[in-house]
Amino acid sequence: MYNFKIATDDKAELYRQVTEAADALTRGEPDAIANMANVAALLFESLPGLNWAGFYRNVGGELVLGPFQGRAACIRIPFGKGVCGAAAATREVQCVADVHAFPGHIACDSASASELVVPIVHDGALIGVLDLDSPAKARFDDADVIGCVELVRRIAARLASVEKAAIEG
Ligand code: SME
Repeated sequence: MYNFKIATDDKAELYRQVTEAADALTRGEPDAIANMANVAALLFESLPGLNWAGFYRNVGGELVLGPFQGRAACIRIPFGKGVCGAAAATREVQCVADVHAFPGHIACDSASASELVVPIVHDGALIGVLDLDSPAKARFDDADVIGCVELVRRIAARLASVEKAAIEG
């Protein structure tokens, strides 16, 4: 049983603890889907004010829905479309204070108001994106960006293994 007790009002400390927990959860496990599933659950439980937390995977140049927590979501997102597609196409973090003002935003859950999407890159390849949604406008700030980028950097290799194995046949 995993029982991480993550509770602090200090955002930097919160991300430090969440990143340690994500590292511990994925250490030694080669299956990327299993790792994404546990990290999505960890983030959804640990970060306050989210209505969706999960992954889209780069499958042949298209984003395909991966493990997540929250309401059922759109399955395929072309690179360049919406917030996730923008992150995939540019490989740059997208921190959107008001998704309804974002051109091409894909409304999977009408309750979503702000969104943070972090590209996952390993060995020069885009593995997919981490997507966090909130029903509050401007839920995500620089501390969230820094925290999520560091978390993704720490575990990127463990989110890549299934895709690599599939590509290598
Ligand atoms: N709103 C996203 C789509 C994914 S869902 O939020 C889970 C976007 O515009 O990329």
